[in-house]
Amino acid sequence: MSKKVSVFVGPGGVGKTTLAAASALLAAEEGKKVLVLTIDPSKRLASTLGIEGKTDATKVPGFEGPGELWASIVDHQKTFDEFVQKAANRSPGAEKILKNHLYRQLTTTLSGSQDFSALEKLYSSYLEGDYDLIVLDTPPAQHALSFLEAPAKIAALFNEGIARWFRDPKGEEAGFFQKIVGAGTRQVLKILEGLTGSEFIRELADFFRSIEGWQDRLRERTSAVHQLLVSDHTDFSLVTSFDRAKLLESEAFAREIRRGGYRLKTVLINRAFPQWFDAQETGPSAGPYKDLYEGFQGFYQHREKTIQDFSLRLKGEVQVLQLPELTERVYDLEGLRKVARILKKGGWS
Ligand SMILES: Nc1ncnc2c1ncn2[C@@H]1O[C@H](COP(=O)(O)OP(=O)(O)OP(=O)(O)O)[C@@H](O)[C@H]1O
Ligand SMILES: [Mg+2]
Repeated sequence: MSKKVSVFVGPGGVGKTTLAAASALLAAEEGKKVLVLTIDPSKRLASTLGIEGKTDATKVPGFEGPGELWASIVDHQKTFDEFVQKAANRSPGAEKILKNHLYRQLTTTLSGSQDFSALEKLYSSYLEGDYDLIVLDTPPAQHALSFLEAPAKIAALFNEGIARWFRDPKGEEAGFFQKIVGAGTRQVLKILEGLTGSEFIRELADFFRSIEGWQDRLRERTSAVHQLLVSDHTDFSLVTSFDRAKLLESEAFAREIRRGGYRLKTVLINRAFPQWFDAQETGPSAGPYKDLYEGFQGFYQHREKTIQDFSLRLKGEVQVLQLPELTERVYDLEGLRKVARILKKGGWS
């Protein structure tokens, strides 16, 4: 079994994948055996990590000790299928459901199913691997809990409730399931429209017959994943960027994470200031750039104050770190090392 888990959460595009990979690299440089599970990395980052087109954990090429750096992409459909196969004990029923149209549609279009597979992949890597640390990158989230609650929602969805919902889509359950399935429903139904009436009934019947077998397993798994996430083995880092709205949003995020019983260790404010500007340094004492430099200093001091107030409002034992906007994009090992050094200098541990 592995030892520790570090989860990076946050809204879209703020740098979760980059910072997850850089923190994994840092831990491996410090001698740990580390696995980073990434979601949708850019092509160049995926090729740097050596995971382009691969779904199993791969040793990152070009990384030389003292620890080990492994990486993997969370392949959504494959993770889901593996789960079903395990849950159904590799019985013939499992193969059948994997080909079922309804299953394929539900698992690819349901909101939350990406989150489910990320957590499922985390849990199976945790049990099967012997890593000192597993770093989990996550899909962009509007709310922290929408990610964390995904497995429970999926479990609920595959319970008898869904059967009821299909029988009576406007009934009592509708509000709840509409919310979960969201836009997915329309797509699911559209694909199913392509089937003839009898095919549809057969697929539907097969689907419910086969999921009966693994509902219990799904519930157990969901509760085991939850146990791991709220345990001492796991901590969370919230990535955000610097602007007033994003900071407010992260405060709400942070509260949600803590209220859920998870351990929020760090808030990372990414791209908080430009790399080329150091507010601590004294600028030119005369000449045309003096005023410009002072203007910048005033601007960044104001932002510094905003971040201090933000940290105070977060209270408790949360580390707030700022990272600069780098002048280059981060996609190779050198870039990741640079970010890792910045993390370390900022006190990341
Ligand atoms: N501090 C930084 N300075 C410069 N570029 C950065 C910095 N952090 C991230 N980037 C760049 O920003 C882009 C988005 O970063 P990244 O993919 O890590 O975000 P994300 O939160 O994972 O996005 P998504 O929510 O879409 O998964 C990438 O091209 C990355 O190289
Ligand atoms: Mg990402």
